[in-house]
Amino acid sequence: MTRESWTTRTGFILAAAGSAVGLGNVWRFPWMTAQNGGSAFLMLYLALVLIVGVPGLLAEFVIGRRARRNPVGALSSLSESDRWGVVGLIPVVTTVFLLSFYSVVGGWILRYLVGSATGAYFDAPGAYFDSIAFGPEAVAFQAVFLAATAAIVFGGVRRGIEAATKVMMPAIVVLLVGLAAWGTTLSGAGDGLSFFLSFDAAYLRENFFDVLGAATGQALFTLSVGAGTMITYASYLGEDRSLAADGATIAVFNTLIGVVAGLVVFPLLFAQDLPVGESGPGALFVSLAGAFSTLPAGRLVGVVFFGVMTLAALSSSISMLELPVAFLVDEYDVERRRATAGLAGLFLVFGAVNALRPAVFDFVASTLVDLLLSLGLLCFLLFTGWVLGTDATEEFRNGAGSLGRVLALPWLYVVGVVLPLGLTFTVTTGVLGVANVSLPSAAVAALSVTAAVAAFVGLRRSRSVL
Ligand code: PFF
Repeated sequence: MTRESWTTRTGFILAAAGSAVGLGNVWRFPWMTAQNGGSAFLMLYLALVLIVGVPGLLAEFVIGRRARRNPVGALSSLSESDRWGVVGLIPVVTTVFLLSFYSVVGGWILRYLVGSATGAYFDAPGAYFDSIAFGPEAVAFQAVFLAATAAIVFGGVRRGIEAATKVMMPAIVVLLVGLAAWGTTLSGAGDGLSFFLSFDAAYLRENFFDVLGAATGQALFTLSVGAGTMITYASYLGEDRSLAADGATIAVFNTLIGVVAGLVVFPLLFAQDLPVGESGPGALFVSLAGAFSTLPAGRLVGVVFFGVMTLAALSSSISMLELPVAFLVDEYDVERRRATAGLAGLFLVFGAVNALRPAVFDFVASTLVDLLLSLGLLCFLLFTGWVLGTDATEEFRNGAGSLGRVLALPWLYVVGVVLPLGLTFTVTTGVLGVANVSLPSAAVAALSVTAAVAAFVGLRRSRSVL
């Protein structure tokens, strides 16, 4: 059977932008900003999107389009070695964890969508979250969210994912901009905006490494980089167009949506004098529910807000499910619908563990996923720089304009050398953190540089073997 491909270039861009725009923008980004020193975090995060996110995104695009296969098949076929196929299993594992916690939050959102329409949470917004967040009900709503995700992936690349994101993305933009315009009319909106955009240099100085780690994690998460979903989407590209231009478009669009989401969330909270900067997955839900329950037309605004969140979450979750589906379809010839249904069932089981055990959810959502994304990206970057090498620059140049052609070589050095040095630091810190070992930063840095250099030397030597 011939492999599917996107109908148009816009179809690909919208699908990839749909993967990027998600809970990371509407839920995680405003709060990370609030907790990490306002616009100081914002600037660092923007810089990291540009320095790490975009080159990483382009590495995934290059691998995917070159191989026209899922991440496992892509790494093994391009390197002509099954060992790299084993490395390609990392993204499969990552998407399992990603979707298992993401679908829990997706379930909460659906619950709040219904709750806004019926006014269910209006009397006790705080207690409401606690009553629905973890337990059998959370499993039920998560199942609905997973079913909606599977229904789209069921339809395939063109008639499922492309058709859905073509409608969802414009809807997200229109509704979110409408909400932001409405938000600016609220009293207290000015305070919200100035908080969001305030620059806390002292905070940044004192907590530099923490803020840097948080900003790196957020930069990868928001662009869907490191999970292999962008390899998968790029594997459905039919003809050669500029990957650099597409990547830049997606990154700019995703960032703008994040900023507009901030313009919605902060005025809403400040207009209500609600606490900002609280941590925990439920903070946004509790605070916004509080806002909607007191504002005029709160029900309507609540429905629109959670409606946007539903669309954003779904346009991302479909990319998480598509990856293992593509793996089964490409590598084992499983029929798409079977693969989709089987995997959705499996995710429900994994997801239920997250929906029933808050401690598991917290660990997966905040620690494990960030670590797996950094690890996955590190592998993709090493692969691009040290296995593909000049093939990668050739692929980068295919369809690129003159600027893209000039950028190809510097990009390869950034991807193959500079970023792996930085990311080994992130991964090492993450692993040590999970293992509960604390070392001074200098030791971690020395360890990471040694590991990265060892990887360079090893890959260079074994290139023909791997
Ligand atoms: N980018 C998505 C968001 O911001 O919500 C999350 C995500 C989707 C991460 C897909 C990773 C991924 F592969």
